Amino acid sequence: MFTLDELTLPIIAAPMAGGASTPELVAAVNAAGGLGWLAAGYKSAAAMTEQISATRKLTDRPFGVNLFVPAASDPAALADLPAYRAELLPEAERWDIALPERITPDDEDWAAKIAALLADPVPVLSYTFALPTRQEADALRAVGTAQVATVTSVAEALAAAELGLDALCVQGPEAGGHRGTHAVTAAPGTERLLDVPLLDLLALVRAAVDLPLIAAGGLGDGPRIAAALAAGAAAVQLGTSYLLTDEAGTSAPHRAALADPAFSETVRTRAFTGRVARGLRNSFTDRHADHAPHAYPEVHHLTAPLRAAATGRGDTQHMHLWAGTAFREARPGGAAELTARLWASAQL
Ligand SMILES: Cc1cc2nc3c(=O)[nH]c(=O)nc-3n(C[C@H](O)[C@H](O)[C@H](O)COP(=O)(O)O)c2cc1C
Repeated sequence: MFTLDELTLPIIAAPMAGGASTPELVAAVNAAGGLGWLAAGYKSAAAMTEQISATRKLTDRPFGVNLFVPAASDPAALADLPAYRAELLPEAERWDIALPERITPDDEDWAAKIAALLADPVPVLSYTFALPTRQEADALRAVGTAQVATVTSVAEALAAAELGLDALCVQGPEAGGHRGTHAVTAAPGTERLLDVPLLDLLALVRAAVDLPLIAAGGLGDGPRIAAALAAGAAAVQLGTSYLLTDEAGTSAPHRAALADPAFSETVRTRAFTGRVARGLRNSFTDRHADHAPHAYPEVHHLTAPLRAAATGRGDTQHMHLWAGTAFREARPGGAAELTARLWASAQL
């Protein structure tokens, strides 16, 4: 079974759902001796399988696949959805966009994905937003797949260890994209551990759980990578740093915003999806702040037409621009070269 010790260098390209992760990005990071990761979030089982096949044609080294673990939204949060829809309607009408009135439950094609991964196993899987059932974890272990849980607290780490998973991805509040809290209602300021910086969180998890740790969040340069490894991480996972690479599927407006000095800070917001995520501050995050109910993925589906239209017209003030705190370190170029450069500067 795959272990992190097999890597030539302990740098992982984070799974990035929504288009940024590609088979080409995975292969480039693998070629540099790191570990590439596919994102199956928001994808059907068939689309996930296609990306796995495409990746196998580009690399013969191990690679990861990440799954969003579905959970039913709280009825009270769902009841608040029409009010948030009403808040968004004026801007939808301004751009002549229809917002969905009914959002059907979306379980991420979970059962079909697990069946596909059991029938044709991948080297390593990671879970985000929750954990698999014991039966699913046991079945995937039996087919030789190493399993990683994304955790944001000691309690989540203990639950993953209890399930017999093989490693933990400890994600700090600096991370770009969604915070992988297991409870959808977890929000900055509401839970004691949620704002603990990555290096402190690593120390807390290290003291509680004896599993290999992957550190994620704001690790955009060599010194930060070195600090995470010194704090006990076996590997580091970077997302934002790879967004501008040639092989990433990042949209053109997202790339432009990351390179635009007018975007000067990141914020954590529920406005786009109902779950807390970190992205570049823009007029949408200012206007809707945390008005969205804790209904995930329903808010994601509600805002999807607005975000797609904004992306289509290159309107960076009305789309989600996921980015971690180290976004200023992101540079265009090849992902293999970036991986090698990051590792070299971590050893200076
Ligand atoms: C655009 C984007 C999409 C992301 N999508 C996922 C995802 O599908 N699954 C996941 O576990 N994490 C996802 N993340 C979070 C990363 O796994 C990781 O925690 C984060 O990128 C680390 O922080 P950094 O962006 O500062 O490097 C995403 C991050 C970004 C920037």
